[in-house]
This record gives sequence, structure tokens and C-alpha cells, in this order.
Amino acid sequence: MDIITDPHALQTRAFEWRCAGMKTALVPTMGYFHEGHLALMDHGRTNSDKLMVSLFVNPTQFGPSEDLDSYPRDAERDAQLARDAGVDALFMPAPESMFATDHGTWVEVPGLAAGLCGATRPTHFRGVATVVAKLLVLAMPTMAIFGEKDFQQLSVIRRMVRDLMLPTTVVGRPIVREPDGLAKSSRNAYLTSGERRQAPALFKGLVLAHNMVMGGEQDVDVLKKYVISYYTENLPDGELDYLEFVDPESLALLTRVNAPCRVAVAMRLGKARLIDNLCIDPSDRLVSEK
Ligand code: PAJ
Repeated sequence: MDIITDPHALQTRAFEWRCAGMKTALVPTMGYFHEGHLALMDHGRTNSDKLMVSLFVNPTQFGPSEDLDSYPRDAERDAQLARDAGVDALFMPAPESMFATDHGTWVEVPGLAAGLCGATRPTHFRGVATVVAKLLVLAMPTMAIFGEKDFQQLSVIRRMVRDLMLPTTVVGRPIVREPDGLAKSSRNAYLTSGERRQAPALFKGLVLAHNMVMGGEQDVDVLKKYVISYYTENLPDGELDYLEFVDPESLALLTRVNAPCRVAVAMRLGKARLIDNLCIDPSDRLVSEK
């Protein structure tokens, strides 16, 4: 595995691979790998000739009071895991090589970035879209692979790639969970043991909403009330940021669940801000009734 730190060295290597007719994949990450990251790498390795992974804790997607400095890092362990995963090139640039001190060009996807996480993290998706655009220009991958764990991020990136006509196919992959249902996340490392015991209730609340829809409930107010009271009881240390039912394409807020939707949640738990989401398709109910 090559470890590349110079952005233009990545561009040269990736260009050679594309010119040689190879199918290439890029998995953008901020490191501190867990099975969620490794599942994306696995998909890239089995579906491409050359697999690139970027490991860059992107300062521009952190707000001024967020956890940029304390974000968990372990570059040596990550490099070993990437090697074991069959990665061909691990790109680990220094922040100053990705963002010049007078960097001033931003990629914004205002419609999709405004609600949900964007409401409390107003510059987050601008930072994500900009760094991912830069990574796609450098790596020119045939496919770029992202997790559905960050559902809004995936929507923003799909729209950005479409709007800018970038020659890359965006692939979304399912959420990898702990056995108790908690979505794997580098930020789970922030949880105390007491918080960790409460954390699986976050996903269980989404499953409750899913089951209520399967039972015929469509009214979002009723669904929200029920899930929020479940959280109050089972996640007493959690502080709900949002719980919303959204259109899976436009991310518009729904008042009734009468078509496929995503229920998305964000909650502060101690030092961590946890997010999760689940697809709910009310037509599954009709299929199971047949
Ligand atoms: P990071 O949080 O490191 O996540 C890297 C990729 O792994 C993202 O596509 C994310 O959705 C995916 N991922 C994280 N946890 C997952 C899980 N439990 N199951 C499946 N996939 C999971 O997301 C970022 O980094 C950054 O915003 C980035 C896109 C790299 C831009 O800086």
C-alpha cells in the first residue's frame, strides 16, 4: 500500500490508473476506522481495480465550538487496517496542503444542507462538499463510496456531483451497527459507560416509528410524540437535537408517512452528538398483509 501525503502525487497516480483503463474507487474518511469504514473499503475493493482511501480530518467542516482538536486519531492503526483491507493508496494530506491560508472557493448545496444537521451546524456541509469536491478532483475515481449513516451528507454529495457534472458515480452503502443496534461511529469513543448503555435506545426509537407505520400509523405528529416519550424514558441523559421524517430525495419535512421516507435523528449524549436514520416504506405493510 502506498501512503501519499502530497495532493498532486495522488492526482498523478490516479490519472495513470484511469488512463490505463482501470476502474478506481475512493472512500473518503476522517479516520479512526471502525467496521463502517471497513465495509465501504470492502465494497470498493471488490468492485474496482484500484482502491484509494483518504484520511483527512477536514477542519472546514467543524464549527468553532466543535471537536476538531479532540477528534479521535490513530494514524498508525488506521494505516495497518487499510493495508489489511487491501487498500492500494492511502491519502493522508496535511491540512495546509488541502487548504491554503487564503483558500476562498466554497461549494455550497444550500437546499439540502439547510435543515436537519445543517440547522445547528450552519457551515458543516459547505466544508464537507468543498473537501469532497477537492478529493474527487484529485482522485478522479470511477466510484466514490459513502455510508448511509450520514444520510444528509450523502444527499448533499450526490447533488453536488450531479450539479458539477463530476465524472464519478456516488455509491451509498448501508449503516453498520453494533450488535445492540447502535450505529458504529468514531465519536462513540466519547461515550462514558453509562451513556453507552443508553445509546442503543436511539436506534430502537427509530425502529418503534417503523413498527408504528407498519401498524398503520401515518401521522408524523403522533409518531414523533411516541418516539420522543420513548427517548425521554430510555435516554434520560440525551438531549434531542431533531427527530424528523423526510422525503428521501429532497429531504423535505413530511407530515404524513404515505410513501417511502427516512426518519432521521440527532441527539447530544455527553460529549458525543449521535446521529442515526432508518428507511420506512409504508408499502412494505401492504406486502406483508397479502
Ligand atoms: P467519517 O465520519 O470518517 O466517515 C467516512 C465514511 O464512513 C462516510 O461516508 C460515513 O457515512 C461512513 N460511515 C461512518 N459510520 C458508518 C457506519 N456505521 N456504517 C456505514 N458507513 C459509515 O463522513 C466523513 O468522515 C466526512 O464528512 C467526509 C465525507 C470524509 C468528508 O470529510
